[in-house]
Amino acid sequence: MSDIISIPFNKPSLCGKELEFIQQALSQPNLHGNGLFTKKCHQALEKKIGCSKALLTNSCTAALEMSAILADIQPGDEIIMPSYTFVSTANAFVLRGGIPVFVDIRADTFNIDETKILEAITPRTKAIVCVHYAGVSCEMDTILSLANDHGLIVIEDAAQGIESFYKGKPLGSMGHLSAISFHGTKNIISGEGGALFVKDRRFLERAEIIWEKGTNRKKFLLGEVDKYSWVDIGSSYLPSEITAAFLWAQLPFAKEITEKRLEVWRSYHQGLQTLEEKGKLRRPIVPSDCQHNAHLYAILLPDGTLRNHVLESLRNQGIQTSAHYVPMHDSSAGRTLAKTHGSLVITEQTADRVLRLPVYPSLTLGEVQQVVEALQQAIESFAP
Ligand SMILES: Cc1ncc(COP(=O)(O)O)c(C=O)c1O
Repeated sequence: MSDIISIPFNKPSLCGKELEFIQQALSQPNLHGNGLFTKKCHQALEKKIGCSKALLTNSCTAALEMSAILADIQPGDEIIMPSYTFVSTANAFVLRGGIPVFVDIRADTFNIDETKILEAITPRTKAIVCVHYAGVSCEMDTILSLANDHGLIVIEDAAQGIESFYKGKPLGSMGHLSAISFHGTKNIISGEGGALFVKDRRFLERAEIIWEKGTNRKKFLLGEVDKYSWVDIGSSYLPSEITAAFLWAQLPFAKEITEKRLEVWRSYHQGLQTLEEKGKLRRPIVPSDCQHNAHLYAILLPDGTLRNHVLESLRNQGIQTSAHYVPMHDSSAGRTLAKTHGSLVITEQTADRVLRLPVYPSLTLGEVQQVVEALQQAIESFAP
């Protein structure tokens, strides 16, 4: 195995003003959070997403946990979601006693298969969580209409979804509640970080209480009460001003970063066309209603053995690629804490065969070409 990494899987992109804004944050009286930079980020995100309220959080995980509290998940309530996602999607609800009900994904986008949701709904179903894999939207019209017919709450796990759209609407703007990530591996970053977007106004007041550790501190800050006190459950979901200052340096560059990532994405797409035509791999599929943000370039190899061979072979040449997810229904926690509905065969096949290629704004087109050639060579040299 090569110890030298010539092309890493990810490189966080800095926009230039991160340290300057952090310096400014350090000179503010309020370093702990909900200060100047937090408020600026809230306003910018509310404008960008068009939601009633944006609240910065320490992570997308934290925003999902807040969503589970706001959705009033009680022990035994069922939440329909894909198994092919990051553990936080399920964990947030399990923490409240909820039971994730996994349904299969679509073979094209790897998003929840909207045609499988109806049959998974029971009298215990409380919510549907849509995970927009790779920043490509789930089929939201169908999901929102199903939820409306059955009185269910829709929560978008838009961890990967900044600057992506469904029929022109930003991801994170369609569910009653949505969560986004600014983790260092995402397109726009703050190290660790995330945000909750509240669309449905009935959740507004409680969202801010939960965010402020279950207190009515907001009323205190507005001068409506002379002390703040414990009024509900909540936790430490609010990031410091240092995190908010970092994010404030990134947000104005969201479009520029996305455009650079898209250039890389398109270059892979063009470079891998011939291999796809020869049936050696499948390139990502983006439905025409979806405008994506090039968060990932995930290909499908014909089988798991070849996928592992390619991953290993590229690693030996210093090129980092990555497989994921261990489907949650097939994990030790998932087997005891969740249920499945129907066959999850597409989930299992995808997890076995998917390979994610490096994507970041500073990846040169020459490096993309290098990855494409290494991939081609690895596939052609495969002798099972
Ligand atoms: C689909 C999905 N949901 C949730 C998360 C959790 O995000 P965070 O690391 O910001 O908590 C991730 C992170 O990779 C993710 O990809």
